[in-house]
Amino acid sequence: MKSIEEFWPQFALRIRSGPLELAAVRDDDIPALVDLAERGIHPPDRMPFTFPWTDAPKTELARKMAVHYWESRARNTPERWSLELVVRRDGQVVGIQAFAAENYLVTRTGETGSWLGLEHQGRGTGTLMRQTMCRFLFDHLEAEEITSVAFVDNPASGAVSRKVGYSPNGQTREKRRDGELAIAERLTLLPAQLVRSQYPLEVEGLPALRRDIGLDN
Ligand SMILES: CC(C)(COP(=O)(O)OP(=O)(O)OC[C@H]1O[C@@H](n2cnc3c(N)ncnc32)[C@H](O)[C@@H]1OP(=O)(O)O)[C@@H](O)C(=O)NCCC(=O)NCCS
Repeated sequence: MKSIEEFWPQFALRIRSGPLELAAVRDDDIPALVDLAERGIHPPDRMPFTFPWTDAPKTELARKMAVHYWESRARNTPERWSLELVVRRDGQVVGIQAFAAENYLVTRTGETGSWLGLEHQGRGTGTLMRQTMCRFLFDHLEAEEITSVAFVDNPASGAVSRKVGYSPNGQTREKRRDGELAIAERLTLLPAQLVRSQYPLEVEGLPALRRDIGLDN
């Protein structure tokens, strides 16, 4: 009998850097992620996400999160795929580092997104997990550009982007769900701009993932 990793290569991916390990979200990880989200990711009056998923009623948040991870797996194709990686720091689940790409074989770009439970913020983890993801994408998946977007009233996200080496690439005016104006800053990172962490990067499960997204036969 085949193992699930043989036909779903993301499940075999492990990216390690210093105290962090990033791995595709499995169903067993979802309760810990729900627990973090229920305890809070941001102050209630400061919505950092374009899609305000953390506003879901408490009774619905857990199921919505589970459905989100299942949907994001189910939608993956070589033309449009995402990596939703659960981040562990010293073995403890602390948040998510994601990357989403379209027509990657041609564009060689995609957008990073991330969150940490409030109690895990402000210790350098957000910077290290973004550095880890970007280094993995540039060094192992042949990315040529990585983008990010953050509302200008989200200084922590902006600070992480700048520390990792992203450059501002224009602002857009958007209507938030509460009807108010929000200014979003777009950011771009090129390989030569990446500020690498002091830690080496260890990757497991790479050849099958590269075949899965069409980089190798
Ligand atoms: C964005 C996020 C992942 C960053 O993770 P983190 O572990 O807190 O980040 P770090 O500790 O590595 O760095 C945060 C930086 O932001 C800075 N920062 C935090 N709050 C700030 C503020 N109010 N004003 C200015 N800078 C601020 C910190 O000083 C730090 O920079 P420094 O190390 O140069 O001092 C995390 O804050 C988070 O999950 N926020 C809620 C979800 C979110 O906003 N996701 C991104 C959506 S675009």
